[in-house]
Amino acid sequence: MNNSTSEIELIYTVIYAFGAFFLMAIAVVVFIYYARKKIIQKELEKKNLEIAYQKEMLNAAILTQEKERKRIARDLHDDISSKINIISLNSHFLNVKDLSETEIKQITSNIIDVSAKVLESTRRISHDLLPPIFEEFGIHVAIEELCTNYSNGNLLEIEYQNPYKQNVFDEIDKNNHLHLFRILQELVNNSIRHGKATKIKIELNKNKSNRILTYEDNGIGFDDTYESNKKGLGMKNIESRVEFLNANFKIESVVNQGVKIVLNF
Ligand SMILES: Nc1ncnc2c1ncn2[C@@H]1O[C@H](COP(=O)(O)OP(=O)(O)OP(=O)(O)O)[C@@H](O)[C@H]1O
Ligand SMILES: [Mg+2]
Repeated sequence: MNNSTSEIELIYTVIYAFGAFFLMAIAVVVFIYYARKKIIQKELEKKNLEIAYQKEMLNAAILTQEKERKRIARDLHDDISSKINIISLNSHFLNVKDLSETEIKQITSNIIDVSAKVLESTRRISHDLLPPIFEEFGIHVAIEELCTNYSNGNLLEIEYQNPYKQNVFDEIDKNNHLHLFRILQELVNNSIRHGKATKIKIELNKNKSNRILTYEDNGIGFDDTYESNKKGLGMKNIESRVEFLNANFKIESVVNQGVKIVLNF
């Protein structure tokens, strides 16, 4: 009798143990299932954010391209077509019979003047598209030229420090040089236009694996955070160029103390 009671107890214990074990196993499986679901959900959210960011960048690139096309079209229309019209008109005047010598002189001088202006405009438009110095002497000299062109006595002083000169750029893919140049161009434009800066400093340094470009201005700084200032295309374009460079980008700004940007590439 005693024996059979303990046997039953043993059977119950085993059943309880199995039951507990079974419940625990189910709990573990459910936990793993939900944990995995959460991880997948998080990854999905991250991917969606990445896609949205890429879409925004692509959109910014397309908008800039359109803006650039409009600017070129306007330049061609206002600066080139209109002047060639004047030349064409004056050339027709030369065909008119019985022109006096003074009239011929006046018309010819008009044609010469306007042709010179067309040449100057063509030069300016093509330089805007790609600074010739860039192709001829490389990005280092192009940055030097950019600084000289914008520097303006006491009103704006741009300092460019790069002890490695062109060598520091030669270590990176040549296709990326134009990205770097355009980034600097936009930063300088913004410092002047928005920051009202009077001093800008561009510095290039490097360590074993990276090159570090530090850009500083003494302007009014972003009026709130950088994120809330990101309305224009300029900064978005900088961000996509930074992606092309596979670089790291950090912005610091204090109101009324200017902007500091560090680019690691
Ligand atoms: N150096 C700076 N100092 C102060 N504010 C700045 C500076 N750079 C940018 N900002 C602020 O950030 C905003 C966004 O700059 P961003 O270059 O993206 O656009 P934008 O210059 O207004 O227009 P776009 O570059 O498309 O012509 C600017 O409108 C300005 O408010
Ligand atoms: Mg801008």
